Amino acid sequence: MNPSKKVVLSAVQPTNSAHIGNYLGAIKNWIPYLELYDCLFFAVDLHSITVNQDPTELRENTYRSIATYMACGIDPAKATLFVQSQVPAHAELAWVLTCNSSMGELSRMTQYKDKSQRHGTHIPTGLFTYPVLMAADILLYGTHLVPVGEDQKQHLELARDLAERMNHRYPKDSAGVESPLFQIPEPMIAKVGARVMSLQDPALKMSKSDPSPGACVFLNDSDKEIEKKFKRAVTDSGTEVPAENPSPGIQNLIQIQASFLEEPFEKVHSRYIGKQYGYLKVDTASVAVEKIRPIRTEIDKILNDRDYLTKVIRKGQETAAARAEKVRNEVYKRIGFIGQ
Ligand code: AMP
Ligand code: TRP
Repeated sequence: MNPSKKVVLSAVQPTNSAHIGNYLGAIKNWIPYLELYDCLFFAVDLHSITVNQDPTELRENTYRSIATYMACGIDPAKATLFVQSQVPAHAELAWVLTCNSSMGELSRMTQYKDKSQRHGTHIPTGLFTYPVLMAADILLYGTHLVPVGEDQKQHLELARDLAERMNHRYPKDSAGVESPLFQIPEPMIAKVGARVMSLQDPALKMSKSDPSPGACVFLNDSDKEIEKKFKRAVTDSGTEVPAENPSPGIQNLIQIQASFLEEPFEKVHSRYIGKQYGYLKVDTASVAVEKIRPIRTEIDKILNDRDYLTKVIRKGQETAAARAEKVRNEVYKRIGFIGQ
């Protein structure tokens, strides 16, 4: 840890494999941060059990999440990669923050409102308190910047509110000196262009949980599967790519190709004006295949070298736990616990 560097922290839920939205909209953009910031990236397995998980799949997907970060270029020598449940301070701080949050503010979370609707009368309490655990994740590391999607902005607001509330309630350290308990985190929201849409319905965000087959291109899809999904991508009733205002489905394909190639949208668009949609689909598929193949191969290689992966996770756990425990101890002291 270099104290002069700002702390950047983000996390994914270890459910399913990552898709190209996660890669292009999130993980890929974090690579430059490795040189600039003190980075922590982790798999939030405690968050994922807010809905039912098959234990074998959860275990595998947790390893897969860390392997995916690494295969996408997050070098474990340059960032702390770890698994949330291996650092008990997350659950411990979450409880303290739960006691400092209100039912009212948690009831306003739109993700809770959406997700709880799927559960009828048996809404898991964890879905309700989920944003408090997320606040604990962030506040434990003195985080300055949190790269997340637009959908997480409200959760970030809650983390900021809780940090400010705790700083106000407990302004003095154990020596009686005034110092803020928590750093107030800022969200870093990806550019609008980084929103990858479903290949089956370009009005919807590409999502792991989309039940429509072909909507989502996963990083562990085979070359054939990737080609098939792009070939079947929903566009519109036209035939040729227009110079002005291409439809959302066409825009999405252009955007995906542009993001993989790191070219401007306009440059990719200009190659296809007046051409039939098929060319755009075939080329975008081939770019995706070429870019995903080495990542998929690397994920498999890392997953097959369990000893190495376990070592990376252990080292991440040690680093993260040492940092998190310091902050938790300070919280415990300030709130009046007798401490360790
Ligand atoms: P999730 O898969 O929802 O846990 O998201 C993990 C990260 O990937 C978050 O930072 C999201 O903002 C990002 N992400 C998820 N889906 C997309 C998408 N379709 N387009 C761009 N970024 C996405
Ligand atoms: N809630 C985030 C999501 O569903 C995942 C997450 C948990 C997270 N803890 C975090 C993201 C801390 C950033 C920082 O995508």
